[in-house]
Amino acid sequence: MRIVLFGATGRTGQPLIDQALERGHEVVAFVRDTAGLPQTVQEDSHVTVVEGDAYNGEDVARAIGGDGNPVDTVVSVLGQTSDGPDDLLTVAGGHALAAMDENGVERLITLVGAGVREDGESVTLSGRVMGALLKLMARSVLEDARDHVEMVRDSNTRWTVVRPPRLTEDAHTGEFRHGTDITLGMRDTAARANVAEFILDCLEDNQYVHEMPKIADR
Ligand SMILES: NC(=O)c1ccc[n+]([C@@H]2O[C@H](COP(=O)([O-])OP(=O)(O)OC[C@H]3O[C@@H](n4cnc5c(N)ncnc54)[C@H](OP(=O)(O)O)[C@@H]3O)[C@@H](O)[C@H]2O)c1
Repeated sequence: MRIVLFGATGRTGQPLIDQALERGHEVVAFVRDTAGLPQTVQEDSHVTVVEGDAYNGEDVARAIGGDGNPVDTVVSVLGQTSDGPDDLLTVAGGHALAAMDENGVERLITLVGAGVREDGESVTLSGRVMGALLKLMARSVLEDARDHVEMVRDSNTRWTVVRPPRLTEDAHTGEFRHGTDITLGMRDTAARANVAEFILDCLEDNQYVHEMPKIADR
């Protein structure tokens, strides 16, 4: 599969590239600065690096459209940086959806926090406390993710929205649980490397199309 990865230099993006290559995929790594990728990844014959800014529609379209050789799948693990604007996921997601439409690319997987809920979703007391804290501490991040998810859900793509609790850089264990109705508590976390594995599983097995699964370490 040819996968374009937005957020390729990030803490989830890096294990995702490594695992995608291990699984035999081709990766188009969308980066602001190639130097953010390890040398081994830069030199891998199955990696194409596209430099650009996710706020720029032409850059995003170039990565997805691939000069007449569009990717099969779009994966976004973009995350806002402290010095950046607070609508990254919404704007970049809009550009990606437009380019997917233009190039006939159907599959999209995007990563947001478990604080983005589905209508009518049951939430534990600790989930509500965490939601309230998130609103206090990172309201704009949450609003951006919610707006992004709304656009994705309204699109004609075969989308999956992956929703972990707090992410960690713990080791890749492959030991995680996932589901649309699993409950998450204050202590739940997800190793970014496990999230990467789950995203690739969803892609390869066509899991959770038009769903918003949660994932957490066991
Ligand atoms: N932190 C948590 O506990 C948590 C929990 C659940 C979900 N999430 C969500 O998971 C997602 C990924 O998180 P993460 O911690 O893996 O992210 P991260 O390490 O902060 O990486 C963010 C990535 O986005 C890229 N990026 C930012 N602005 C960009 C732009 N304008 N154009 C192109 N690329 C841009 C960064 O590129 P540069 O290297 O160039 O900066 C980097 O590759 C985020 O959306 C986050 O909200 C986080």
